[in-house]
Amino acid sequence: MDNQEFREEVLRGLSDSKKHLPSKYFYDDKGSAIFQEIMEMEEYYLPGCEVEILQNQSKDIIGEILSEEIDVIELGAGDGTKTIVFLEEMIRLGKKPTYVPMDISADILKFNEENIASRLPEVPVVPLVGDYFLTMSSLEERKNPRLLMFMGSNIGNFHGERAIEFIRLINGYLQDGDFFLMGVDLKKNPHIIRAAYNDKDGITKRFNLNLLERINRELSADFDLAAFDHYGVYNPKDGAALSFLVSLEDQEVSIGGRKFSFEKFETIHTEVSQKYSLKELDQLAKLTNFSWDRHFTDSKGYYSLSLFRK
Ligand code: AVI
Repeated sequence: MDNQEFREEVLRGLSDSKKHLPSKYFYDDKGSAIFQEIMEMEEYYLPGCEVEILQNQSKDIIGEILSEEIDVIELGAGDGTKTIVFLEEMIRLGKKPTYVPMDISADILKFNEENIASRLPEVPVVPLVGDYFLTMSSLEERKNPRLLMFMGSNIGNFHGERAIEFIRLINGYLQDGDFFLMGVDLKKNPHIIRAAYNDKDGITKRFNLNLLERINRELSADFDLAAFDHYGVYNPKDGAALSFLVSLEDQEVSIGGRKFSFEKFETIHTEVSQKYSLKELDQLAKLTNFSWDRHFTDSKGYYSLSLFRK
């Protein structure tokens, strides 16, 4: 991660009249480890729903794809464990997938490659290290039809119009007949969503505060972590779960020598986790120039794997 870019984005966000910080900086080593804890939390239903859909409905998803050879490209693939079920089903159905996992972390991709090689030796793996935008632009040379996967409800972390822009960009890298499969958290009883971002053990609070700890360490800042609290809220009207850090007192913080003042109860907006309805997803597919879409939901109707065809 470019430290200069990190510094500029932090200084810019904290200079705004309504302070904010980009959520992409949550994921240093410690933040990624805390995120693993979040994924195992009782309140954080998202991964369980996604796994259920993959286990029960991979066959139906794959049934929509006619070609035998297919490049399965996964953005932010991580260790690939969840995708194994899907690739296994492809093999069972007589497909010949090539797996192209993309991730910012070279270490996790190495693990991913070994993981797939030991469980599914017949599947060629072509790992691509880098951020979404750079790695997607290197896709153009491949000849097979594509299924691009973007799982984990990561689309929810894009603010409003940015989600549309991002999916349009993806569409631009696909050819007619290619597919985009996206994991999306759905609108549901607001209490359930609220609890997912306000767990009883304070794991999400640690996740949010770790951003300040990272700024302290990497940008020579002096945030007092005990003087900030985590606040998670869900607004069912617009489907946005928002996370904030709340200053518990009037205070001044120095970041590499630059001073920022915080009033008591002033907030820093750190994350949006947007929730969608199936109807909104249909609209999203149209707005981003896909010709067709179909939703595969879990038994509780909490989550969707939405398949868009170009
Ligand atoms: C990675 N992303 C989809 C998570 C979410 O649900 O927005 C990050 C997260 N933040 C707090 N809990 C989980």
